[in-house]
Amino acid sequence: MARTALITGITGQDGSYLAEHLLGLGYEVHGIVRRVALESQRQRLGRIAHLLDRVVLHPGMLESYPSIYSVVGRVDLDECYHLAAQSFVAESFDDGFSTMQTNVMGTHFVLAALKELRPRCRFYFAGSSEMFGKVREVPQTEDTVFHPRSPYAVSKVTGFHLTRNFRESYGMFCASGILFNHESPRRGLEFVTRKITSSAARIKVGRQQRLALGNLDARRDWGHAREYVAAMHAMLQQDDPDDYVVATGRTNSVRDVCECAFSVLGLDYRDYVDLDPKYYRPAEVELLIGDAAKAREQLDWEPRIGFEALIEEMVRSDLELASRGEI
Ligand code: NAP
Ligand code: GDD
Repeated sequence: MARTALITGITGQDGSYLAEHLLGLGYEVHGIVRRVALESQRQRLGRIAHLLDRVVLHPGMLESYPSIYSVVGRVDLDECYHLAAQSFVAESFDDGFSTMQTNVMGTHFVLAALKELRPRCRFYFAGSSEMFGKVREVPQTEDTVFHPRSPYAVSKVTGFHLTRNFRESYGMFCASGILFNHESPRRGLEFVTRKITSSAARIKVGRQQRLALGNLDARRDWGHAREYVAAMHAMLQQDDPDDYVVATGRTNSVRDVCECAFSVLGLDYRDYVDLDPKYYRPAEVELLIGDAAKAREQLDWEPRIGFEALIEEMVRSDLELASRGEI
């Protein structure tokens, strides 16, 4: 019989790739989608438009326990991937309260509903390399101490501990992925890689003149989202629940992204990029670089798509969108 999975955040970058991955493995896939007053179907469900006849969507809000409880009660779940979150770090500095509300309470609600209604359902929590923050060691592993540097990161550390608590207190199969940055043509336009690739493409076709950025020296360990969702699934197939770092082990700067993206289009980023203090963060995470040895050994997971190939794929996709006037 087909296994059944619920994805919170199915409309996001990772949710869309994970839904594809699970459908490919023969799963029955359900997703939680929040209702908003002004709804443009094309924009809101854009990332899963090609999957709409193959997934079952349920309305739900992370802020509402009854809405989560009702979805979990409706579907006999084998696995639950909790990806929904306010995921933009910069926004969490502007409104830390709503980030905490969504990310902390939302995670607690999903765990509590599962404990009540589906205690045997396997649970994945979308932890983040941001939890390492002001890093205590390089590279970071599952044993590296957390030092979160933003309300977003604090919310993820709390979600991580909640997940471990449900595992230890109630014997539930709860695993956390500590995922380093992963990008794709489906990345939100406000995140730095996509902001750069979409702007470079718009500049190339004459729809934009300049690009304002913040800290060009920040470094991240950037992988491809399509590969990272496979690690999420693998974590829930283990004999015992555990936590895993998922990363490429390589690091590049924001400046490298600019150089790479503009050069794909035959442009020099130095002719177009301005620095704007508004994009600097009150506290920065300077050097995230992950050691995914445990995932390699236990999950048989290995990233294959390199930094240049990732950025080039994003630029080419954005060039098509920009040429059609869609970005
Ligand atoms: P994303 O593209 O921003 O997607 C976030 C998803 O959460 C969207 O489907 C969004 O729905 C949903 N959501 C947000 N607030 C909600 C609420 N109040 N109620 C219900 N749904 C809500 O994020 P992503 O890049 O796919 O990341 C997935 C998860 O992994 C997030 O938890 C993120 O923090 C974490 N993570 C991401 C990375 C990365 O590099 N991408 C790295 C580590 C961890 P709408 O479509 O309605 O906005
Ligand atoms: N967004 C943005 N916009 N970032 C900029 C800009 C800019 O104009 N200029 C420089 N940066 C720098 C930021 O200061 C940060 O150091 C880096 O680019 C990456 O920023 P984002 O792409 O916004 O991602 P993030 O690393 O803060 O967070 C992402 O990765 C986390 C995993 O480490 C998100 O996906 C989080 O949800 C995720 O947990």
